[in-house]
Amino acid sequence: MRVLLEAIDIHKYFGRQHILKGVNLSVPEGETIVIIGPSGSGKSTLLRCLNLLIKPDRGRIIFDGIDITGKDVDIHKIRQEIGFVFQSYNLFAHLTAIENVMLGLVKVKKMGREEAKKIAAEALLSVGITEDLWSKYPAQLSGGQQQRVAIARAIAMNPRLLLLDEPTSALDPELTVEVLKVLEKLSEKRMTMVIVTHELGFAMRVADEVVFMEDGTIVERGPPEKILINPEKERTRAFVSKLMELYKMERMHR
Ligand SMILES: Nc1ncnc2c1ncn2[C@@H]1O[C@H](COP(=O)(O)OP(=O)(O)O)[C@@H](O)[C@H]1O
Ligand SMILES: [Mg+2]
Repeated sequence: MRVLLEAIDIHKYFGRQHILKGVNLSVPEGETIVIIGPSGSGKSTLLRCLNLLIKPDRGRIIFDGIDITGKDVDIHKIRQEIGFVFQSYNLFAHLTAIENVMLGLVKVKKMGREEAKKIAAEALLSVGITEDLWSKYPAQLSGGQQQRVAIARAIAMNPRLLLLDEPTSALDPELTVEVLKVLEKLSEKRMTMVIVTHELGFAMRVADEVVFMEDGTIVERGPPEKILINPEKERTRAFVSKLMELYKMERMHR
């Protein structure tokens, strides 16, 4: 399988704190990678480095054969090709759902409003946001609907790669399900994705590879059946069994 993005020996410091300690990550085209790991282990920082929202202090990121950490790289062009979905949706409160999706098409891709509207409508429908919701403002939508609008906004730009940072962790369980379904569908359509999530059932079904991060390094990686059920490293085992307990408890209360 062709590698779309390759992160090589990524280091990041915040002040004197060494946050990413030489991370290597390879993202094959069409695959879904799930990153798990304790809070503070550097998952968000890594994801933000991949599309240069944060500049790594050391290491290289090769995207589609180009070193995007090198000089003379058009960061704006790269960002158009790498979509990002945040835990907190980050929609513009003063714009309607469809205007949120159109914004990047009009401002960044310089598309006419009519064409942008057509593409935005398609993207919204593909995530299950029906026409009656298009003129609503974010505050009038549920969290699950807002997150699906944010996903529509990302995919409307036709990205090569989609990065998602805990896209469901702010949502109630029933709203989580509707967002996970959208992501599962994208994965089936072979959208290349890197997703930070602790939804174990989702990871098991959808991930091609699960990566366990701790303390700024990748401890272990492999197919979900291996990492989530029979990992090699003790640290992975300890974390996964804790996750599994939480997951079971949540299910009992549903
Ligand atoms: N902008 C920042 N400035 C200073 N420290 C930061 C910044 N962003 C993250 N950190 C620190 O880096 C570490 C890793 O954070 P983060 O990547 O958010 O971890 P995770 O997403 O795995 O919870 C944490 O100790 C956090 O406090
Ligand atoms: Mg995080």
